[in-house]
Amino acid sequence: MARTRPRPLVAGNWKMNGLRTSIAELKRIIAGAKKLTDRADILVCPPATVLASFAAAAHGSLVAVGGQDCHSQPSGAHTGNISAEMLRDAGASAVILGHSERRMDHQESDALVQTKTAAAWRAGLLPIVCIGETKEERDAGATLSRIERQIDESLPPALEGDLVIAYEPVWAIGTGVTPTSADVAQVHALIRARLADRYGGKGEAIRILYGGSVKPGNAMELMRVENVDGALVGGASLKADEFLAIAGVYG
Ligand code: PGA
Repeated sequence: MARTRPRPLVAGNWKMNGLRTSIAELKRIIAGAKKLTDRADILVCPPATVLASFAAAAHGSLVAVGGQDCHSQPSGAHTGNISAEMLRDAGASAVILGHSERRMDHQESDALVQTKTAAAWRAGLLPIVCIGETKEERDAGATLSRIERQIDESLPPALEGDLVIAYEPVWAIGTGVTPTSADVAQVHALIRARLADRYGGKGEAIRILYGGSVKPGNAMELMRVENVDGALVGGASLKADEFLAIAGVYG
């Protein structure tokens, strides 16, 4: 029996881009989202410095706002860090965790990502946990084993809230290169099976996003793949028209 597809999520990861003036782009996204048919959730994750103002502007709209990382503790002596509770207080409803740029630039381990996922749930945020293989791992035929290990070690053993997984092959991020639909289907099927093993029937409802060079021109093909429940978009999310064209794949 075919599984019922969950409501898709199209999330924009602005990374280290965006000043106060960028709220004009968010407002264009909000205005454009009204013209879509509301068949997908739309999320914008700007830098923490503008999160509160973005959340205020997006309040009551079809666009939600999220963070890009959080600390595992709710508060304390952790200079420069931001807790899940702080993101929530600023108006976030979700947080991206374990992005490959965090894993590389800040040596974040799977075990750390797991504690952050628990922190997101504690604060009432939706965690979007990123996993994906490097080019070297893919070339060595280690993609599936890498993905399995990341699922097993980055995710808490019990589901204590809603969860989203983003499959982002590291070599596809910001490169303009994407895996074939067949490759995406294979990895997403593996993730789905692993989630079902781990969380039973609830694993079926977990949204699995594809991320890595999603653009208006390839979004339709990628979003049609079995077990792809939306997109995590980097570069193309910075421009309202491109981001809306991607979200518009869902009508
Ligand atoms: P990209 O980034 O769309 O610019 O490839 C995706 C991501 O890193 O989330």
